[in-house]
Amino acid sequence: MAAVAERVFSGVQPTGNLHLGNYLGAIKRFVELQNSHECIYCVVDLHAITVWQDPEELKRHTREVTAAFIACGIDPKAHIVFNQSQVSGHAELAWIFNCVARMGWLNRMTQFKEKAGKDRENVSVGLFAYPTLMAADILLYRATHVPVGEDQKQHLELTRDIAQKFNTDFAPSIAAYGHGEGYFPLTEPLIAGPATRVMSLRDGAKKMSKSDASDFSRINLTDDADAIAGKVRKAKTDPEPLPSEEEGLKGRPEAENLVGIYAALSDSSKAQVLKDFGGGQFSAFKAALVDLAVAKLGPIGADMQRLMNDVSAIDAILADGAARARALADQTIRDVKDIVGMVRA
Ligand code: TRP
Repeated sequence: MAAVAERVFSGVQPTGNLHLGNYLGAIKRFVELQNSHECIYCVVDLHAITVWQDPEELKRHTREVTAAFIACGIDPKAHIVFNQSQVSGHAELAWIFNCVARMGWLNRMTQFKEKAGKDRENVSVGLFAYPTLMAADILLYRATHVPVGEDQKQHLELTRDIAQKFNTDFAPSIAAYGHGEGYFPLTEPLIAGPATRVMSLRDGAKKMSKSDASDFSRINLTDDADAIAGKVRKAKTDPEPLPSEEEGLKGRPEAENLVGIYAALSDSSKAQVLKDFGGGQFSAFKAALVDLAVAKLGPIGADMQRLMNDVSAIDAILADGAARARALADQTIRDVKDIVGMVRA
């Protein structure tokens, strides 16, 4: 295999209402990985349009995710932040992967089955091909590591299957062009553990979600201090005091969720949080959680608002990121065309 340094790629869909779950489950990890890896973070607008998006909203949401990345601490100079549609290599490589991946592989994708439901005849072709575009995102940069949630694990396995099949289907050509054994790496997922799974503030059995009808179910990244405080105070709990050990959280999903949020926001553990608050009432714990959440999220929300008010600054960041991404992507596209046998005249 050609020597490829460790490189992280991940994508976030611009579908609006970024919340605490997106932060603790994904973006906070993206920020941390900057210290150890070369990172490429992409706002995947081509994926978003696999279901219809209002054009003005799509633009707004693309800039909003970009603002969230920056406000949360992603450095767009040291790393790369851009939106997918500005680098045409994503769509080009996705087409080639559509010809590598097998119908049977895509038919097994559980996310497609869930999203399409009973309406399979009426969803877009793009929704079916979503996973090959995702493989293209990752392999266009020959990324070695991809931080994602548990729900994306199957898409990462498919990405490896596509890489492997490409490497074997074109093995002689790959060798002839001097890329050794294989051109694409077998990318590893970095799966976020259950500790980073944030549940609804109204129902500890449901994931915190942008599409929940109640705004009290989630803390949006753009919420101000008053909104954050109100939502934490109204968060569902149970009548018992907090346990002193993690074992005592079993069967108490709301308590477990709030303790988990406190632990994640304070870079601590549930066990430590329960050492500090165990035996006490929820009222005291919630007051502390309000202070912590406002201290951590307040500045992020304020920064996002500030950035969102300067569209040209955000667009300049995306343009710069896209230019640097394109330089990497163009090399891959040239290599792949040679390998597959497309004349570059
Ligand atoms: N499918 C991912 C999600 O819904 C988003 C995504 C698109 C992605 N391309 C990617 C994630 C590449 C990681 C790598 O969360």
